[in-house]
Amino acid sequence: MIAVSRRSFLAILPIWILLIGGQEIRGDERALQAEQAKSFFRQNCMSCHTIGGGRLTGPDLKGALERKDRSWLKRFLLDPVAMLESGDAYAAKLKKESRGAVMPRAAGITPQVADLLIDLIEAESELEKSEFAGLQISERPLTAIDVERGREIFLGLHSLERQGASCISCHSINGIGGLGGGLLGPDLTKVYDRLQGRKGLATWLAAPATPTMQSIFKPHPLESGEILALVAYFKEAAETGSEAPPSGPLHFILLGLVGAVGVLVIFDVLWRTRFRSVRARLVADQGERALHR
Ligand code: HEC
Ligand code: HEC
Repeated sequence: MIAVSRRSFLAILPIWILLIGGQEIRGDERALQAEQAKSFFRQNCMSCHTIGGGRLTGPDLKGALERKDRSWLKRFLLDPVAMLESGDAYAAKLKKESRGAVMPRAAGITPQVADLLIDLIEAESELEKSEFAGLQISERPLTAIDVERGREIFLGLHSLERQGASCISCHSINGIGGLGGGLLGPDLTKVYDRLQGRKGLATWLAAPATPTMQSIFKPHPLESGEILALVAYFKEAAETGSEAPPSGPLHFILLGLVGAVGVLVIFDVLWRTRFRSVRARLVADQGERALHR
């Protein structure tokens, strides 16, 4: 009797191993997908949405599944613009509440990704505090010290905690004088208004949503104290400055020209004697040769 049950136990052992193993693999896969959904959300959604941290450009997504069902949300995520254009009343209401901002279709979204994102929103909505509640930068009033520190960070006088590149190499802003900043990125004088003030700008800086900025700051994110200082500086700039006149680049070209002419003149002066002496030697050689002939 015992022998029989032991044999049958041995017989089903491989099946158990398979079943348990299979469950583990499925569990791993799910964890991996959840990680991918988080990373997709961080890169494509966080600049406009928090989950439980209040509205940015788009609504707070906490409890989105209590407001609308899964199939509506999926259809919306796959093509928000089409949803609006179809005359959907709820989408129109959301747009109105977002002061006319329209959600763009995320690059690379598929029905499967949309499902994972909805799962993510649902799971994070249930948490006391989601990791997507947005950057908790201090609400304290901004001071002149913050502004000064932000200016130093912008100018690269104060190097970044996590080694990001200094802003001035690519951006200009009103009031930095001299040649202004780099031209690769947009002028940031009014960026405080463009990115909707303290909270919007801070969230944007914590996880920039555009390609160049992302390539620099994803591996070297700004630290929250740095963000607060930059926000203070940009706020001040937006209140006091106007964007650099478009003569900036022209200025640069002119200075370049003046510089080039200057260098030519200097070389001319330096080389004049050398040229003369070569020529003089040639003339002398010619003369000598003529004499010897
Ligand atoms: C550029 C800003 C922006 C980005 C990026 C963005 N959204 Fe939106 N989202 C909005 C706006 C604005 C609305 C309100 C509807 C409208 O005006 O288009 C909205 C609405 C929504 C809604 C409906 C909310 C509700 O209360 O029912 C969901 C869900 C949503 N977005 C999810 C996402 C996800 C997921 C991503 C990333 C794949 C994303 N959004 C990226 C701006 C954005
Ligand atoms: C290597 C060049 C480079 C550096 C360094 C850089 N940026 Fe940018 N930035 C860009 C470019 C280019 C854009 C335009 C969008 C894009 O392609 O990312 C941009 C866009 C931005 C925007 C959005 C502007 C808007 O009007 O929407 C902000 C804000 C910004 N940068 C802030 C900063 C800050 C703050 C720093 C320094 C801590 C910084 N950038 C450093 C190149 C740079």
